[in-house]
Amino acid sequence: MKGIIFNLLEMLVEDEEGDAVWESLLDEAGVSGVYTALGSYADEELIALICGLAAHRDQPIDTVLHWFGRRSIPILADRYPEFFEPHVSTTSFLMTLNDVIHAEVRKLYPGAEVPVFDFAFEKYATDDRDTPTLTMVYHSHRSMCALAEGFATGAAEHFGEAIQLEQLECKKMGAEACVLSIRISG
Ligand code: HEM
Repeated sequence: MKGIIFNLLEMLVEDEEGDAVWESLLDEAGVSGVYTALGSYADEELIALICGLAAHRDQPIDTVLHWFGRRSIPILADRYPEFFEPHVSTTSFLMTLNDVIHAEVRKLYPGAEVPVFDFAFEKYATDDRDTPTLTMVYHSHRSMCALAEGFATGAAEHFGEAIQLEQLECKKMGAEACVLSIRISG
């Protein structure tokens, strides 16, 4: 995982929990804590830090991953306005994940192993308002679907929209891939 992800986690932990908690998470994980944005570090280091934070907060790991993704979006929007500015809605933003955002990330951060999403639209047959549902199938060897949910939630907050998110299938429950069903309303 690229150092930029560790940098985001450090900023958010220091902001919400304080510097001392970040230092103790590093100690408990047995890692140096020196992460350069372009460097690559073992996924296990990130997982150890997330697990440490989950223990510190007495929360499930997926809750912490979701929080991490949601809170990262305002920082990313500040740092990469070009990914957000062409859009007025969460859906159109999310639809550019493969071909624009993560494609650019792979150029900016050589060696980045970004997830791949399949997109499909469906309509709720029973819904009077006919709100389309965006289905995102998340493919990654990392199984961090809760992080993807957090990013999507943060994106909806960024665009001032309400999001209803349901996870229909999960790799951790034996499915081939994680399937996220997303309904957005302005
Ligand atoms: C400006 C927006 C974004 C930027 C700059 C960005 C950048 C990145 C970077 C640098 C990584 C690390 C890849 C690596 O180290 O190998 C990453 C991973 C990831 N990104 Fe994005 N991302 C953005 C938005 C999103 C959104 C909106 C989603 C989902 C809805 C998403 C889902 C993920 C997930 C789940 C990972 C973890 C790696 C994995 O699952 O394999 N990202 N992203």
